[in-house]
Parts: sequence; structure tokens; C-alpha cells
Amino acid sequence: MPRNPAHAMLASPNHDEAARQQYTLSLKDFVRDQVRSRNEELYQKRGRPRFLKEHGREPDSPQEIGTVMWDDPAYQMFSGLHRNGQEMMWDAVADTLYRERDALSGKYRTLSDPAKRKGSLELDPNFNMPPGMAKVDIHLQPGGYCVDYGDDDVLAGAFYEYGGNMYTMGRGVGQAESKGEVGVRFIQDRYPDFTPTRVLDIGCSAGSSTVPYVTAYPDADVHGVDIGAAILRYAHARAEAMGKVVHYHQCDAQDLGFEDGSFDLVTSHNSMHEFPQGTTERMMQESFRLLKPGGVAMHMDVNLRFDEYDPWMKFHRGWDQINNNEPYWRVYANNKPAELLRKAGFPEETCWQGKFQQLDKSIHWFISTALKA
Ligand SMILES: C[S@@+](CC[C@H](N)C(=O)[O-])C[C@H]1O[C@@H](n2cnc3c(N)ncnc32)[C@H](O)[C@@H]1O
Repeated sequence: MPRNPAHAMLASPNHDEAARQQYTLSLKDFVRDQVRSRNEELYQKRGRPRFLKEHGREPDSPQEIGTVMWDDPAYQMFSGLHRNGQEMMWDAVADTLYRERDALSGKYRTLSDPAKRKGSLELDPNFNMPPGMAKVDIHLQPGGYCVDYGDDDVLAGAFYEYGGNMYTMGRGVGQAESKGEVGVRFIQDRYPDFTPTRVLDIGCSAGSSTVPYVTAYPDADVHGVDIGAAILRYAHARAEAMGKVVHYHQCDAQDLGFEDGSFDLVTSHNSMHEFPQGTTERMMQESFRLLKPGGVAMHMDVNLRFDEYDPWMKFHRGWDQINNNEPYWRVYANNKPAELLRKAGFPEETCWQGKFQQLDKSIHWFISTALKA
């Protein structure tokens, strides 16, 4: 399946919108390839010598590097452009999504018709939204993950998928293999005799990480959970439009509510970097509780490892925390997920974390996994 598959819920831009989106992508590419890529040179040529002169020693933290870089007009220009590219991306996507909003809601109503649908959607009218999520337009996405305009609203899901497709293209991420497919390939590589019959995808968002598990394991009962109601409506309609049977539920990763030992594969994709530390710890404990003996936990996310970085890399890769509204970015970067799996109860010898390359070799993902004895 291509990374960005076509389906009935995917909005399509008109001519002018496509032109604006293309322009935005080109700007993002330019900033990434021609400006961001030269920030280290800027630091070596200007920031570091200035720090050495002023302090008589090397900077030993990203904060100290920040004192000289944020004072440099060239770095300020990079940061302004990078932030603007991200804002322009969401604006450009919004043109299409607000124009198609009613049509998307109409498709949701048709695709979620209980008489015809094959999967299901369970929303909780009394759901307690985690405040850290409700108050932040995460990665500048308008309204963030939690915005919900009512019964048949799907905008947050549409924003996540449509904007996400542009975002990954603008970052030059490969188009060949989706996150879910990387997860499936990893599981098949590491556990060749394992065929799950009940799968849970935590923080499933628009469902693009969930559906590949239905494709890979057609006999499995596949479930996705997220906190956003509009995101889940979109994911539900998307899966129905693709003819994939998925059961979506509104729940918090900290307290998933399913019965003990009711899954044999528990996964998450790109979610931990959006979670406070306590939520990630609880998610690992819930993974352990929910798995049957012999079950597998597999949590993958961006390859962001502060324990491997020097102060410059920490400064460089830490940009998103404040400038792209990613409040838990550095918490995640300092995390040791395999240790959290061990603390959650998984036998130490089965806990592993490391990098796993995407098929087209464009990026590595960071994966943690464990097996319930
Ligand atoms: C970056 S998205 C990842 C989406 C999807 N797994 C993918 O790879 O396309 C992170 C998702 O985690 C969800 N999320 C945030 N906090 C959560 C929580 N406490 N419990 C469950 N989901 C949560 C967000 O709503 C969002 O949809």
C-alpha cells in the first residue's frame, strides 16, 4: 500500500489550492535543504567561536548554545521561515478542508451507517480529555487533536491525514511504506512465528497506522484508540471507505478499559512523542496488562535520541518543542522505552529498543518491543 493511499475520505484540492500547497511544499523543501542543513556550519563558524571568546570554554548544553544561536540573525531567519512554512502548510490544507467540510461530514454519515458498516465506532460522551492535549494546537495543527464541532464532524482527522501527507512530503520522508507497514515488517522480522488474532493500536489518529494490520493479518480483530472524537469519526469512515474492518474507541492510553489479557499485539506509532512521561509509563503498564501470555508489545516513534546526541544536536533537534508546539518532544527524546517496558512487568531479556530502517532507506524509526512471558 502506498504511504498515502487514496480513499473516499481524502479531500482533494482544486487548482488554486493545489498550486498553493505545492508552493508551500517547495518552501518547506527549500528551508530544509538549503537553510536548516547549514545551521551547523553557522554554529561552527559564528556561534561557537563567539561562545568560546565570551566564556573561554565550549558550550556544554543546548541552552548555552541557544544563547549565541538565538542572537544570530541568520538563525532567526531560519527559525522564522521554518515556523512560517509549517503555519502556511496548515493554512493551505485548511482551504481545501473547510471547502469540503460538509461533503466530508456527509461521507462520514454514509460510511458509518450502522446497517452497512463492517467495523465500529465507540465514542464516550463523558470522556475526560487530557488537559495537556486539549489546550495545545499540537504541531500547530489548527484546533489540535481534540477539537470537535459536533455529531458528524471529522475535521481534526482530515487535518491530521491531509496535513500529515504534506508534512511528510515536505520533510522528504519516503512515500513507499507507511508507519503501520514498517511496524508490521518489524514484527514479522523479529517474531517470524507470531500471527496476532487481536490487535490494539494506541493513539491511532486518522487510522493510517491501524489499517496496515488488517491488511497484514486479515483474520485478526483490529482495534484503534484515540482521545479525539472527530479524529475517530474520520478514522472510522476512512477504514470503511477502504473496505477494512477496524473497531475504534475513544479512550485514554493511560486507562484503556479493555479486559486483562484480551490482545496478543499492542502497538503505537508516533504517539509517545505527544505524550507526557506519565502517559507513556501508563501505556507500557496497560500494554502488559492487556496482553495474553506470548503477546507482543511494539511501540515505534520518531528517531530522536538525546542520549546519543552532543549539545549541538540536542539544540538542533530540540527546535520543535517550543517552535512547533510539541510540548513533550524533549521528554520523549530523553525517554528509555525498553526500560519502561521492563518496569511494566515484561521480562528483561525480551525488552529491546533500537532503530529500524524504512524500506526506501529515507529514515530510521525508533522501536521498543517486549514479549509477555
Ligand atoms: C502523532 S499522532 C499518531 C497517529 C497515528 N498513530 C499515526 O501514526 O498516524 C498521536 C495521536 O495520539 C493521540 N493521543 C494523544 N494523547 C493520547 C492519550 N492520552 N491517549 C490516547 N491517544 C492519545 C492524539 O490524539 C493523536 O491522534
